[in-house]
Amino acid sequence: MEIRVTGEAPPTAAVDALVAGVCKDAGLQGAAAAADQALGGALGRLLEAGEIKGEPNQTVLFHTDGRIPARHVILVGLGPEDKLDAEQVRQAAGAAARLARDRGARRLGLTLLGADVPGRGVSPADAGQALAEGALLGLWRFQEHKSKKEEKEIDEAVVLAGGDAAAVAPAVERGRVFAEATVLARNLAIEPGNKLPPRLLAEAAARVAVGAGLEVEVFDEARIEQEGMGALLGVARGSHEPPRFIVIRYRSGRADAPLLALVGKGITFDAGGISIKPSEGMEEMRMDKSGAAAVIGAMQAIARLRPDLDVAGVIPATENLPGGRAQKPGDIVRTLNGKTIEVINTDAEGRLILADAVAYAAKIGARWIVDIATLTGAVVICLGSQAAAVLGNDEALVEEVRRAGSDVGERFWPLPAYEEYKEQYKSHMADIKNVGGRPAGTITGGLIIGEFVGETSWAHLDIAGVAWHDKDLPYKPRGATGFGTRTLIRLAERLAGQG
Ligand code: BES
Ligand code: MN
Ligand code: ZN
Repeated sequence: MEIRVTGEAPPTAAVDALVAGVCKDAGLQGAAAAADQALGGALGRLLEAGEIKGEPNQTVLFHTDGRIPARHVILVGLGPEDKLDAEQVRQAAGAAARLARDRGARRLGLTLLGADVPGRGVSPADAGQALAEGALLGLWRFQEHKSKKEEKEIDEAVVLAGGDAAAVAPAVERGRVFAEATVLARNLAIEPGNKLPPRLLAEAAARVAVGAGLEVEVFDEARIEQEGMGALLGVARGSHEPPRFIVIRYRSGRADAPLLALVGKGITFDAGGISIKPSEGMEEMRMDKSGAAAVIGAMQAIARLRPDLDVAGVIPATENLPGGRAQKPGDIVRTLNGKTIEVINTDAEGRLILADAVAYAAKIGARWIVDIATLTGAVVICLGSQAAAVLGNDEALVEEVRRAGSDVGERFWPLPAYEEYKEQYKSHMADIKNVGGRPAGTITGGLIIGEFVGETSWAHLDIAGVAWHDKDLPYKPRGATGFGTRTLIRLAERLAGQG
């Protein structure tokens, strides 16, 4: 879908469907009021009849009967005026764009939802970015493996920005960069295990990197062994598909630029290994590469936005299967930094491969390490799908992650990293073991990864509860959400001024 910005007045725009916002109990204002006037008060009558009340993301479709160029006007609810923010605009844009596509629109007209009425708390630029993200993400669908593709498609969205067009145009472009990175992440995360094993994930990452003008290095199994990544190799033993270790590099060009390492869990399918998972719902475990997907998406966007710091995307990739040579409970592996891990449960494989990966990030001189992973079922119990968990060894970095998330509409809730939790994963046989028991499972899982960052400032994001949705949300159609991609991009921007 193309997306462009014009200064046209909404009622006269040559589009198929025109989208305008309505706040709860606020009557018709801004673009909605202008459209209403052109339609002889017809929209006001819809409101009086109670067909739309302005509840968040509620929509109503009105047939214009040729009275304005647009065949349909879609009114979309923005909720209470005093709670209006960019996230609400993003959601409303997603909901409206999908309805428009369902009704056959090919050209979509988006008014500046939330910023078309003075004093509404969202700036025209923020609204522009949110509109682009909401529409592009809401319209996402994955039909790679369908012989017959959906025919209904929106070819072009026009943001009708009036006098704000000059400020809105770059923001819409920025929204497109954020959204395209997230779409890339979704497409990688949702792809079946047989279509995207580690070899092909590495090829996809390399294609993205080269396309974006980034450096990329892919270690094969022999090189992984040479490097001493015994934990990654241990997990990979259960599969015929060889592992890969992917490093994508963005260089800002500044000689003394600090390095941010984004480390993504790339389990292309998690069957649990010898500690095999129950079969019910196991197909979902193809999304265990969602952390890797978010990192690849973020690197693409970072290459386009060019923040003033260096960034390395680091991805350990393997399947976790119970093949005949698979590692077994009780096995001990030696990681890149020399520490040994007793593998109690082969299904706690994310922390194993991330141990090697964050140790690598520390070794290449990262100033900050941020790992992102679908790490634990425990975080689903703890936070459900409303927030990801964050913890780390540096309060300031954890706070930066939370602020970056809040800038882009992704919630990260902090968990404590008390020293005492570390007792739970002490081992009689090795330096540590890979599980800390059921209590505080998300915390011990994270802290085990933290054992390998050395003195580096580090934050861990557990996205197991938010990486996937079974039902449609306004800009998150069912399936992979791409969660974390936009936060990582924003985090790189926020850290650019620091360190
Ligand atoms: N990939 C899973 C975690 C997961 C659960 C992701 C639900 C997405 C949705 C991870 O590798 C895993 O199996 N974790 C175990 C750890 C346990 C054995 C300590 C878990 O959470 O059960
Ligand atoms: Mn697992
Ligand atoms: Zn896993």
